[in-house]
Amino acid sequence: MIPDSFKQDLLNRVDIVEVVSRYVQLKKGGANYLGLCPFHGEKTPSFTVSPAKQFYHCFGCGAHGNAIGFLMAYAGLGYVDALRDLAASVGMQLPESRPRSREEAARQEREADLGTLLEQAMNFYRAELKKSPRAIEYLKGRGLSGEIAARFRLGYAPDDWQGLRGAFTRYDERALVECGLVVENEGKRYDRFRDRIMFPIFSNRGSVIAFGGRVLGEGEPKYLNSPESPLFEKGRELYGLVQAREAIHAAGRVLVVEGYMDVISLAQHGVGYAVATLGTATTAHHVARLLRLADEVVFCFDGDAAGRKAAWRALEVSLPLALDHKPIRFLFLAEGEDPDSSVRAQGAEAFEQALREAQTLSRFLLAELRAQSDLGTPEGRSALLAAARPQLQRVAAPALRLQLVKEVAELARVSQDEAEQLLGLAQANAPRARPAPRRSAPPIASSQERNLLRCVLVKPALIDELDAALLDPGMPESAALRAIAAWAAEGGGMSGPLLIEHFRDSTHAERLFQAQAAVLEHNLSEDDAERQFRQIQLALRIQRKNEEFEALRREATAGRASRELMLEIDRRAKELAELKGQRL
Ligand code: UTP
Ligand code: MN
Repeated sequence: MIPDSFKQDLLNRVDIVEVVSRYVQLKKGGANYLGLCPFHGEKTPSFTVSPAKQFYHCFGCGAHGNAIGFLMAYAGLGYVDALRDLAASVGMQLPESRPRSREEAARQEREADLGTLLEQAMNFYRAELKKSPRAIEYLKGRGLSGEIAARFRLGYAPDDWQGLRGAFTRYDERALVECGLVVENEGKRYDRFRDRIMFPIFSNRGSVIAFGGRVLGEGEPKYLNSPESPLFEKGRELYGLVQAREAIHAAGRVLVVEGYMDVISLAQHGVGYAVATLGTATTAHHVARLLRLADEVVFCFDGDAAGRKAAWRALEVSLPLALDHKPIRFLFLAEGEDPDSSVRAQGAEAFEQALREAQTLSRFLLAELRAQSDLGTPEGRSALLAAARPQLQRVAAPALRLQLVKEVAELARVSQDEAEQLLGLAQANAPRARPAPRRSAPPIASSQERNLLRCVLVKPALIDELDAALLDPGMPESAALRAIAAWAAEGGGMSGPLLIEHFRDSTHAERLFQAQAAVLEHNLSEDDAERQFRQIQLALRIQRKNEEFEALRREATAGRASRELMLEIDRRAKELAELKGQRL
């Protein structure tokens, strides 16, 4: 039995728009999202998803439900599997069905209560802000209105070692330490946040999961953040997303900045579509999420060396996830400026103009590559090719990659073909040169292993058919496929999103993200995936047998053709012919 409290907690954390858009391409339309209904054939979209109601509804066929229902109906999952899938996607774990020990039960109960405690604390901090003229002055001094402060639920933690006694009757409660509000040190307990402006961090669905606290004026550390907790995992959250969601939809654009104050100050000036990564480096998780949120992603960084470094890191995690139809841009501010100071100085209009003119991902990549080598010399141009190689290999979006290859070729003064050879991308174009296999979409990726992986993401059950001996051990996708097979053999949950989630922190994560991005872009159907998977394995098998056959033949023609060898060759030839006859 799965307790209702868990189900509720889960539904509070998942976002149905994210869930549905793993499978259905959605476009914003007013307050809702629209797409082609996956439950009946249609040419014009009548399938709507409401982020506010966390519900989907098709006006064409009447299908409707919440995130759990969607996974059951669309992905064909059972109730428990759907819950498990959703839970994994937000980093929760399904309560075990086996009887839990007392301590375990108590622990889970407490975890469910952490959210309530954080909410209580937020309300306390907000009330304290109203009572502190000094804190109010500070926020006013930074140009924030009361309205914006309320919108972001800003608060103030009083200058008191145990101020939270004013919020909680049981200050000694263990959970207060667990959710990071109270620090325990040598038997003493005190508030983590004292005399700070409080910035609550919200989950997708709008529940408080952590805080950031800023000193009023100078002091170290400038910002203090909640530690990671069962509710809060830094590399996954985007500060301000709940407040920004509507503006993101309206603008079709999401702006990524570094700090709390940047988000709030931008919103104050009417640029409401900004979110922050909160001082952590941009992760693949962030990028995948951002690309689902909007058609255009702009990263905004300081113009200094640290900003460029952070931008480069964002570029690197973006490369495998970039999509041909969703531009990613980089805005570099002048040295010493941040989005907050910049929008205050020049106003929203000029700031947004700068956003529109921001450097594209490809411009940024090429500029960095050029800066590293002296293109006036053959050595420099070779160095450029060497530096470009690993980067371009990570680009999954086909058109973008082609454009980059052309540009690099031009800079390096080689032909496009030569560039493809030197960049190790030549194989990528090979499938296009060959006749497309009948009755199925042509493979979309550069290696068979990559294609197999994509098929598995579309239809995970195919992993059972995997013949791992056929894989090229040198391909990173082979390792990913093996890992998935091993996990499946242990009874691992079998859905594309769950696969991605399961391997999120493994060495396979990037390959999986990359494959997933391609799957989304190419809209591969399950039937296509199945046909492709079988075709590829058959082709690999034929190739393998062919190589063995040729080796035997060489042996025979080299002289020592025993009768046994000739018989073996004969047998192999028949086997090969039979395999070829199986071609779909
Ligand atoms: P910044 O130092 O750029 O601060 O850090 P800021 O956002 O401009 O803040 P103001 O304008 O001085 O108030 C960017 C982000 O890095 C994290 C915070 O999330 C901050 O918003 N950070 C920074 C910390 O977590 N701790 C720190 O001590 C400093
Ligand atoms: Mn700032």
